[in-house]
Amino acid sequence: MNNFKKDFPLLASQDIVYLDSAATTQKPQCVIDAVNNFYKSFNSNIHSGVYTISEKATTAYEDARQKVASFINAGDPSQIIFTKGTTESTNLVASCFVQDLIKNGDKIVISIMEHHSNLVPWQQIAQQKHATLEYLYLNDNYEIDKKELNKIDKNTKFVAITMVSNVLGTVVDVKNIIKKAHSVGAVVLVDAAQAIAHKQIDVKDLDADFLAFSGHKIYAPLGIGVLFGKKQLLEKMRPYMFGGHMIEYVNEQSTTFAPLPNKFEAGTQNVGGAVGLAAALDYVNKIGYKQIETIESELVNYALSKINKLPYVKAYISPNKNSRSGVLSFNIVGLHPHDVATVLNTQNVCVRSGNHCAQPLLSYLGINSTVRASFAIYNTKEDVDKLVEAIEYTFDKFKKYLR
Ligand code: ALA
Repeated sequence: MNNFKKDFPLLASQDIVYLDSAATTQKPQCVIDAVNNFYKSFNSNIHSGVYTISEKATTAYEDARQKVASFINAGDPSQIIFTKGTTESTNLVASCFVQDLIKNGDKIVISIMEHHSNLVPWQQIAQQKHATLEYLYLNDNYEIDKKELNKIDKNTKFVAITMVSNVLGTVVDVKNIIKKAHSVGAVVLVDAAQAIAHKQIDVKDLDADFLAFSGHKIYAPLGIGVLFGKKQLLEKMRPYMFGGHMIEYVNEQSTTFAPLPNKFEAGTQNVGGAVGLAAALDYVNKIGYKQIETIESELVNYALSKINKLPYVKAYISPNKNSRSGVLSFNIVGLHPHDVATVLNTQNVCVRSGNHCAQPLLSYLGINSTVRASFAIYNTKEDVDKLVEAIEYTFDKFKKYLR
């Protein structure tokens, strides 16, 4: 197995097993260097200065947009809007599109696996508009049951769906869901936050209307994200925020707005973040998704095979190898996940515990929380061994209190 850990200074210099990449990934040296170089040599505001470093910053920012467009096969880069992250992207679509789309009695369909940022915005609109928010539920394999797709019917105006669950790691056949939604005239937003670092995404092949992701989940800095939208939709939408850079002309009583993508990018933008995102996409392109998927699926399969040997551990993951990504949620039966994660930390193992910002899913599963190990390109089988040793250590510490 290739070891990419050396590319990540934090991991190469600290004795920790980092298994919380679904929350945020570590950053490779090339990303740190790109951001550092921006601040060191051409830090300036974009789209306004005519001096050399400002033009360089503008070019770097627009090159990053072009890179994102190619990366997800969006075609025209004006369909790429830079945001703070997935949450801002979904809220932008909620405020500027879905809010106007949904009328009394309409239906919005989402899955029970949605993270709060791809759930609460739609729930708010459904409440305000007296619309129905309907959920696609799961079968025993933690996958969306095919018959659930019948809920996408002629009353459905909007579908929001994750590509990969941040709790279960389930990979969703979003292409099929989009096809079904389009057959009834519904518009679809794909939440690619948990997919972007693990699966090749082609918005044209998916025929996605909107797609959102965060840079920090794909080795880029925190605070830069992406909203892809089809041009004909973005053009019709009203602006999200008002201010500098998003205008065409402002007079005392009225304003005309800039064309795409600037219409949605009010105020000073995160140029350093965009530069870092471009470097991260180059890094991922160099490795290739084929290799990423091979490594990560080997890690999950290996982790699951070891965890399955521990009778006191319950895993929440599809038994179908093709339906899972780099996430493994589990519980030590009888122990609170926060206690487990706290003891794992004493063994230098970093995992997330809690409801993972997916409370409806956890309620649906009949639990309050899980421990979650999530993998990325820099993890190794040795990391899995350390995780499993730390789980055994934790159980050993607590077993006298368990019946
Ligand atoms: N959505 C992120 C996670 O699952 C924050 O950890």
